[in-house]
Amino acid sequence: MRKRVLSGIQPTGNIHIGNYLAAVQNWVLRQDEFENIFCIVDLHAITIYQDPRILKRQIRQLAALLIASGIDPQKSFVFVQSQVSAHAQLAWILNCFTPMGWLNRMTQFKEKSKECKNEVSTGLFDYPVLMAADILLYETDLVPVGEDQKQHVEFARDIAKRFNSIYGPTFKIPEVLIPEVGARIMGLDEPTKKMSKSKERFGHAIYLLDSPDQIRAKIMAAVTDSGRDIHFDQSRPGIYNLLVIYELFTKYPRPDIERRFEGKGYVALKKELIEVIIEHLRPLQSRYQKLMEDSGQIDSILQKGAVAVRPITEKTLAAVKEKVGLW
Ligand code: AMP
Ligand code: TRP
Repeated sequence: MRKRVLSGIQPTGNIHIGNYLAAVQNWVLRQDEFENIFCIVDLHAITIYQDPRILKRQIRQLAALLIASGIDPQKSFVFVQSQVSAHAQLAWILNCFTPMGWLNRMTQFKEKSKECKNEVSTGLFDYPVLMAADILLYETDLVPVGEDQKQHVEFARDIAKRFNSIYGPTFKIPEVLIPEVGARIMGLDEPTKKMSKSKERFGHAIYLLDSPDQIRAKIMAAVTDSGRDIHFDQSRPGIYNLLVIYELFTKYPRPDIERRFEGKGYVALKKELIEVIIEHLRPLQSRYQKLMEDSGQIDSILQKGAVAVRPITEKTLAAVKEKVGLW
């Protein structure tokens, strides 16, 4: 029996190389090994206000980007969260078993609520419960995510255990799967903070749809330090981040990378990194453009994905309702 993998990604804005290197690329690389379920989490996206027309477009764009990145709809289910109503239903039930204190501890809520320009919604506070529902509906074995989501997966495990202890074995306890390298890609302009979709500064992130000129400008401007030698040294966050990005795009071993740049300065690394990123993204971008010419095809993939996963979710939801005593 293959293990079942589930992960989610928000359709808010273009995805960046942090999302790609820590999450999407790993989903693609291990696609044959697992049974895969990938969810475009639009219900999570609206925990912060989204312009409706833009959101709708971004859902389709994200689906196209995932497929252009190598997610194969023949091997993986890809669907939109709001199309499978059991996600919201299970989230409600789990809410009723979630102590508020557990949610109060979530670091992402603390950060995001500080950044929120408008009022903070109850949905943003409750976000981890919906994420737990996403995971627990599918008897998920593994949840591959970046480091920033680790606490949320642990939260899903805790809720599952709590529910199981009250009602008897119901949910499978999922494991988090964090990449050993690159679990936290840092902002190019601020290498002590994680690369984030919500930062609007030009040089902060490289997006999968960036042009060669944009990539060049952003990497050349990336913050480093006053050193010269090129080593994987975490105490020099700027150069370390660039080296990790280089490593993950090329898959070269670290000693080879260090040897390659021995005696050369940071500019040499930056120049080569630029070419590596441009060449890696070129075929992905052309697949994306092709897919976007036929949005009917994307919609049909998402539709099929939802139809395929619904029965799994209905089964779990029915079992949970039965346990709780609902009709
Ligand atoms: P999101 O865009 O927030 O839905 O995130 C999608 C995936 O990308 C999740 O698995 C995140 O953990 C991961 N991710 C987001 N930002 C970063 C980052 N800067 N470094 C590594 N992984 C990230
Ligand atoms: N919260 C995750 C993020 O922002 C996205 C997400 C939603 C997710 N549901 C999930 C990830 C379930 C893994 C499993 O990155």
